[in-house]
Amino acid sequence: MATIIDGKKVSADIEQQTVAGVARLTERGVTPGLAVVLVGEDPASQSYVGMKERDCERIGIRSFDHRLPAETPQEELNELIDRLNADPDVHGILVQLPLPVGFDTEAVIARISPEKDVDGFHPFNLGQLVRGLPAHRACTPYGVMKMLESYSIDPAGKHAVVVGRSTIVGKPMALLLLNANATVTVCHSRTRDLPAVCRQADILVAAVGRAKMITSEYVKPGAVVIDVGINRTDAGLVGDVDYDDVLPLASAITPVPGGVGPMTRAILMANTVAAAEAITKTE
Ligand code: GUN
Repeated sequence: MATIIDGKKVSADIEQQTVAGVARLTERGVTPGLAVVLVGEDPASQSYVGMKERDCERIGIRSFDHRLPAETPQEELNELIDRLNADPDVHGILVQLPLPVGFDTEAVIARISPEKDVDGFHPFNLGQLVRGLPAHRACTPYGVMKMLESYSIDPAGKHAVVVGRSTIVGKPMALLLLNANATVTVCHSRTRDLPAVCRQADILVAAVGRAKMITSEYVKPGAVVIDVGINRTDAGLVGDVDYDDVLPLASAITPVPGGVGPMTRAILMANTVAAAEAITKTE
């Protein structure tokens, strides 16, 4: 019977460590601060941003909320980022993605000070990741690594197959697994015979954004299956993995909801406290 990897439990453990970090900062007179920038009115983004604000409040992180209309000129968003970069009360900056059509997302990400880039999307932080050097790590893939660690699943020597090559999940996920000494394959929409490639995986990470795409045909018996997908369907929230179909085959599996989702926000909070510690260390 597969182990159900409990993201709620692992994220609660991480939150405990984050709360301890907040207490250490408070002793030094520092309150960690996270600025969240939401442009436009995408309902899913609004709901994520609302949850992040509640996380901050519970943990003791000051949250600075910036909501801009979709018609905001890029120049105005740039100026806001410049102000947040310079604001000593702000230690982390998150610009919710995707930005509305017309924005230059790459320019926005590159404008965020790398030390405040708690999303780990800035070219500097991604470059550090490529080199295996310390940096802010992208929240979702880093959350997956923490889940594996928490269940004593060591990627070293294993074949990890990542389905999806996004900058938010797939690419940093592949690099984190590689840095943990896995043999890594990254698949995407042009991969030939995807089920056969996935069936080679000891650790299969699905990050494609297609509801229940990964069926038992894609899974080797005994594989660890990590489902990063959050797809809204008429039947409610479902992952990229057909959970009921894959469950009997997997040695461990993450559910949706209650798997990777809670980890992303927990890591964001942890990254914010780490940023505050790093930024204020020399003060
Ligand atoms: N949109 C979906 N996931 C993320 C994330 O981790 N960070 C940001 N900024 N936007 C997202």
